Amino acid sequence: MDKLIATGGKPLSGEIRISGAKNAALPLMISSLLTRETVMISNVPHLNDITTTMELLGQMGVGLQVDEKMSIQTDASTLNSAVAPYELVKTMRASILVLGPLVARYGHAEVSLPGGCAIGSRPVNLHLKGLEAMGTDIIFEGGYIKARAKRLKGTRIFMDMISVTGTENLMMAATLAKGTTVIENAAKEPEIVDLAESLNDMGARIEGAGTDQIVIDGVEELGGTAHRVIPDRIEAGTFLLAAMVSGGQIKLRDVRPQHMEAVLGKLSEAGAAVETGEDWISLKSPDGPIRPVGIRTSPYPGFPTDMQAQFVLLNTVADGMSTVVETVFENRFMHIHELRRMGANIELDGNTAVIQGVSRLNGAPVMATDLRASACLILAGLIAEGQTTIDRIYHIDRGYECIDEKLALIGARIKRIPGAYFASRSDEPVS
Ligand code: UD1
Repeated sequence: MDKLIATGGKPLSGEIRISGAKNAALPLMISSLLTRETVMISNVPHLNDITTTMELLGQMGVGLQVDEKMSIQTDASTLNSAVAPYELVKTMRASILVLGPLVARYGHAEVSLPGGCAIGSRPVNLHLKGLEAMGTDIIFEGGYIKARAKRLKGTRIFMDMISVTGTENLMMAATLAKGTTVIENAAKEPEIVDLAESLNDMGARIEGAGTDQIVIDGVEELGGTAHRVIPDRIEAGTFLLAAMVSGGQIKLRDVRPQHMEAVLGKLSEAGAAVETGEDWISLKSPDGPIRPVGIRTSPYPGFPTDMQAQFVLLNTVADGMSTVVETVFENRFMHIHELRRMGANIELDGNTAVIQGVSRLNGAPVMATDLRASACLILAGLIAEGQTTIDRIYHIDRGYECIDEKLALIGARIKRIPGAYFASRSDEPVS
């Protein structure tokens, strides 16, 4: 298993191009199951979750072509299996997104039940409840969700909780249902708008994406399309944080500042000089100390839970006390235990972290527990005194394109050590 070794102390400054959004690319690729025609998706990030999605579609019989710029062309006319096996679902929970499209177009699907994960139990009850309301029979057998339906029927669905992939799953299914589906209390994330735009280009009739009520008039069939994935607002936020906490100055290209208002607002509040243009953001860290900022995560347009770990780090090195409240996921504070090992002063009380800023962190061996926690620990390593070894970085490769190479471009001292190196040394644990 690869590890990263980060050496701290250098301001991170320069210019970075932001990749396409993982959380937009995954549903866009999966939406190709809804049509017999070809779908071309460009600006796809080079990530393990994308490879998993290709494997998932490929083993169902979907034809896939990828060019050197990561444009992916799918052809689901050759689909011959509607099964998402445990081996793939367990590595990527978003695999559940195949359920709606498969039931809508093929009338049946078997998808392994995702288990628990490092950031909580993450159930899929809302996905299932919505599909049942549209006329799907669902049973559980051998760890699998087995779903069957004749043509889905449009209906009114109230989401008890705001769910991003839940909204996407039901929106995709509803495009081919008979009649009108209304999703109330829908998620409003930019990735949902991106998916709706692509589906509408394929012939779907979706209105209201980006608001909490989405109305979908079902059509008989969808055609092909070509679509460019929106920029990754979480990758962008992570690089802004890198410059901020290290005392640097950064310019991001290929971004959409309007998707990042909550994060940009908090960075300004912390003392950064932030400027934006149509597709760029620049940030200069404050000359004096970083001001601590209160954070409360919530669904879009609120402060994203996927930026919580990085802002815990910002507050850890800020001048004063702050609280960070995680309201979206249970158990999403694993990075705090590792940060404490580097010298952070953080108390945990349920879903609230009370942080007293410290003047410096010390390098230490740490373990990544989930995708965004990994980003926080890498940045911590890059500002700590001495060396930090970050283990279990397979999490980061799921969601950040070449993060070590991109960080090196802005001056980070970071090295990837292939797993085989450690495996051959008896004093180093492999996992
Ligand atoms: C998506 C994102 C993830 C982000 C999260 C919240 C993708 C591929 N992943 O995950 O990066 O952190 O949104 O912004 O887009 N819930 C239920 N029942 C359900 C579904 C969800 O109780 O059927 C709960 C979850 O446990 C969680 C909350 O709803 O507490 C929000 O989860 P959700 O928005 O569904 O997250 P994901 O779509 O899995």
